[in-house]
This record gives sequence, C-alpha cells and structure tokens, in this order.
Amino acid sequence: MPLSIVILAAGQGKRMKSDLPKVLQPLAGQPMLSHVIATAKALRADAIHVVYGHGGEQVKQALASEPINWVLQAEQLGTGHAVAQAMPSIPDDHQVLILFGDVPCVRVPTLQQLVAAGAEGLGLLTVILADPSGYGRITRAGQQVRGIVEHKDASDAQRAIREVYAGIMAAPTSALKRWLARLRNDNAQREYYLTDIVAMAVADGVPVVTSAAHDETEVLGVNSAAQLADLERRLQRRRADALMDAGVRLADPARLDVRGVLECGSDVEIDIDCIFEGRVVLGDGVRIGAHCVIRNTTIGAGTEVLPHCDFTQAAIGERVQIGPFARLRPGADLGPEVHIGNFVEVKNSKLARGAKANHLAYLGDTTVGERVNYGAGSITANYDGANKHRTVLGNDVHVGSNCVLVAPLVVGDGATIGAGSVISKNAQPGQLTVARARQASLDGWQRPVKQKKT
Ligand code: UD1
Ligand code: MG
Repeated sequence: MPLSIVILAAGQGKRMKSDLPKVLQPLAGQPMLSHVIATAKALRADAIHVVYGHGGEQVKQALASEPINWVLQAEQLGTGHAVAQAMPSIPDDHQVLILFGDVPCVRVPTLQQLVAAGAEGLGLLTVILADPSGYGRITRAGQQVRGIVEHKDASDAQRAIREVYAGIMAAPTSALKRWLARLRNDNAQREYYLTDIVAMAVADGVPVVTSAAHDETEVLGVNSAAQLADLERRLQRRRADALMDAGVRLADPARLDVRGVLECGSDVEIDIDCIFEGRVVLGDGVRIGAHCVIRNTTIGAGTEVLPHCDFTQAAIGERVQIGPFARLRPGADLGPEVHIGNFVEVKNSKLARGAKANHLAYLGDTTVGERVNYGAGSITANYDGANKHRTVLGNDVHVGSNCVLVAPLVVGDGATIGAGSVISKNAQPGQLTVARARQASLDGWQRPVKQKKT
C-alpha cells in the first residue's frame, strides 16, 4: 500500500521557555524535527506532510531544503484537528503514518513493524512505562483494544494502566477521514483528540493492533529543557553503543558527543569528552585524546591527536601527530607524518610529508614543502588589511623561531631563515636569509633604578 507520513509539529512548546520553536530545538546538533524527517525519509514514503503552526515561517525556513508538503494549522485545536488539516492532500488508497515532531528518537525498524502490523486496520505504537503519567492509556477488553483514554480524562483505575499510546499510529486514509470528521472536543482539554478514533475503529469493526516500541527512549517526547537534555544523553548513548559494537574503543561512552556522522576504521580509540560534528572520518588505528572538538574532518590511519585540539574542515593524512592544543581551520591539509604541536594554528594551508610546526605558530594560505621545519613563534602575515596572499615554502626549508613571513612570498628549497627575521622578499634556495637589526652591546648603558617616592 502507498504510504503518506504526517508529522505533527504545530504545538508551541510553552514549557521550553524559549523563543525558538520547540521542533527547532537542537538535538545532537540538528533541529529535533530534522531527526523525525530523516526517519520519515528512510521509510521511503510517497509523501511527507508536516503540520506546522507555532513559529511557522521560522520552521519552514530552517527546513526549506527538505522534500516536504507544509500544512498550516492556524489554531492548535488538538492532535485530531492537526491531522485533519493534512488529509485533503492524501489519496484515499494510502496508508497514513502519524509521527510527532517532538518525539525524535523513534527508529526506522520500529515504524516498519508498526506499518506492517497496521496494514489491515489501525496500528498503534505502544510501550509499557514504569511511570505512565501524562500519557494516553490503552484500554482493553481481554486481549482486544477498546480505546485510548487521555490521562486528564482517565479514572483512577485507568490511570493505573501502564500500557500507553506512544503518539504514533498507522491508519487507512479513507476510514481516517471518516473518523476525523466525527471527532468532538467534549473532554478535559477541549481538544479534538486523535486518540478518540480508536474507539470509532473498534465500533466499525476495523481491526486495531498494537505494536511495541523497542525501548522507552524511542517514544520519549520533549516538553522541557530537562527532557531535551535527557534525550540528548540517551541518543548519544545509542550512538556510543553503535560505535562500540563496531569495535571503537571509547574511554567512556557517557562522555562522547556525536552531532552528525562519525565513521571509524578498525582499532580507533577515543578518550573522554570529545565532540564530533558534521561528517568526521577516522582511519584505522586513529587515536583521539581527551577534550577534542572535530568538525567535518577526515583523519588518516595511524594518526594521533593529543588532547584539547579543535579542527574544522581539515584533511589529515596518515601517521600524523597533532596537539595538544592545536587548531586546524578550514582548508588545513596535512600530508603523511606531519607534526603539529601545541598552540599551532593552520588555515587554508597544505603541508607536505614530514613537515613540522611544533610550537606556537601560524600558517595561513601557505604551501609547505616536504620536511620543512617551521620554528616556534613564527607566523605568515597573509593579510595586508584588504587581501590575502600566499606563502610558498619549498622542500627542506628551515624557518627559525619568531619569524614573520610577509606574503606574497616564496622561500626556495633548502633555504634557512634566521630566527627573528621579518621576511618580505623572496628567499633564495639553499641560502641563509636573515632580516633583523644587528646585535649590539652598548658601553656604559645602565639599568634604570627605582626612584624613591617623595
Ligand atoms: C498525545 C496523545 C497521548 C499520547 C502522547 C504521547 C492525543 C490526544 N494524545 O498527548 O495519547 O500518550 O501524545 O506523547 O493525541 N500538535 C499539533 N497541533 C495541535 C496539538 C498538538 O500539531 O493542535 C502536535 C504537537 O506539536 C506535538 C504533538 O502534536 O508534536 C502532540 O501534542 P501534545 O499536545 O503534546 O499531545 P500529548 O498531550 O502529549
Ligand atoms: Mg505532549
């Protein structure tokens, strides 16, 4: 049966106490709603409809690139009313899967199971909770589902039921349209409850089946900052478990944050408190020290990153040594066996095999040859206040400590730059180039002495 997915995302999320609409609150570095949309896309539905209302334009703009049919629910009159807004664009022969924009951790196989279970009628995703308060309870006569009663409308006996409705269902379109048209709001919240259609399905003789979620995390909704933080940790733990299943050695699975996609080869080790954003690829045997933040970066096999490094859009070769406290900015491209030490910043620069910058240095817009040794405290002055210029260092160049290389500049193969030089003209290959005031010792010079206060 063709599948249409409806994601409800019109609620305000008052309890978040934030100007950002709830469904845009970030979870693992992405808006909550993006997680739900990614799950919906993985189900290969024929169409994805998102019912939006609160923070309308902002929500649409944030997800503008997604293949979505946006449906406005101008007033939030309840979940049944929200689904009804999407129904005109759904063909009668489709199965409809309803997801919540604020229940972001439900997994694809769980939904596939629900869609299959509900193929002949109405499918409800359920879970047994130790503390079911707040949720709609599943009422049964024997094995048979009778309906769902909302917490606020439930009797004490019903509130004791621990089997709850997760807020996700699969339903046949034509029957759903019929049931939605009959919803009334004579309940505790004066809302049109989607859950009231369950009793209608039972009355119509349509089979109602339940499908259990794999775990509680899948069905947890986000209503507050505390719940968002809790879900973040659960989602991160899920990611850590998947990495460890694949053989990655995490010093502590509770102290890892993957806010994107982390791909690891074999025998990768990651120490505590590292953050990975965007797409990060770690080759075989890579070791990442504690407290590193790595975004959209590829790291070659056998490379070791020492603690406290920060990388953005860098490409790092094999058997490289970096850190501690190194910063790689966009366009940093390190060849094999390069060494980058503490307090070294590299931006838009390509370092060839075996080049070294071990202490307190800046390389910006630079091409660095093989085996170059770049001294402590040296920098490229790549910006003249208006334009950026390149520096080219040939193979086997040695730059002494505390040099300023004023770009545009070419330093020939095998050249040596004397410590403390300001180099603003090209330096010849194989020669020592020095550009600094000559050392002098002044006869009769005296140190200043501290004057007595009068
Ligand atoms: C709903 C279910 C409850 C279930 C629980 C699971 C109903 C009536 N109740 O309750 O049985 O146990 O979810 O989390 O469905 N929304 C709109 N428009 C509206 C109202 C809500 O788009 O007019 C959206 C919200 O943005 C949210 C979702 O629907 O994404 C759920 O709404 P909410 O009011 O939180 O429902 P619950 O009271 O949690
Ligand atoms: Mg809710």
